Amino acid sequence: MNEVMDALVNRRSVRKYKAEAVPEELVKEIVEAGLYAPSGMGYQKPVIVAVTDKETRDELSDLNRKAGGWKEGFDPFYGAPVVISVLTPKDWDKGVEDGSLAIGQMLLAAHALGLGGCWIHRAKEVFETEEGKEILKKAGLEGEYLGIGNLVIGYADQQPKAAPRKAGRAFFIK
Ligand SMILES: Cc1cc2nc3c(=O)[nH]c(=O)nc-3n(C[C@H](O)[C@H](O)[C@H](O)COP(=O)(O)O)c2cc1C
Repeated sequence: MNEVMDALVNRRSVRKYKAEAVPEELVKEIVEAGLYAPSGMGYQKPVIVAVTDKETRDELSDLNRKAGGWKEGFDPFYGAPVVISVLTPKDWDKGVEDGSLAIGQMLLAAHALGLGGCWIHRAKEVFETEEGKEILKKAGLEGEYLGIGNLVIGYADQQPKAAPRKAGRAFFIK
């Protein structure tokens, strides 16, 4: 199978990670894949915040846990050492589309580079909190941004299988 097709078909959401750190070059490559995503009108509005610092990663995990309503002790990042958040300016009307595509590209890039990844929701809620805004400031990001989504990445400690594709979802006019 063509390599890109293979990645598209075989990438899976990983929900169990090894503690092993992800080399910085790989994190940068994944972020690059997000920066190269198509964007509405080519405006390149999405911004990407990659967190490898454990303290900040844990803080984001806890804010995400609270936003999801889970009990203390649950890690919505499943032990992954890296979290990457995607945000777009609040006044950009194609933010959800642009940001989602950037996340999709980064998930595929992680898979292609031998890592596992998973989309993690609730970026909107997390970056609406004062603590979330402080984290953005720490990254050097000021202004009004809407959280679109996060992905976590790390070395996979499981090999999930794809659910069968539901029939009747593709239509062709020949
Ligand atoms: C918009 C969106 C939000 C998601 N949020 C979460 C999440 O918060 N936590 C999680 O474990 N998976 C999340 N996922 C991953 C999906 O559950 C996963 O893609 C789906 O079950 C299919 O599995 P696959 O990615 O292995 O094909 C999300 C996916 C999308 C597209």
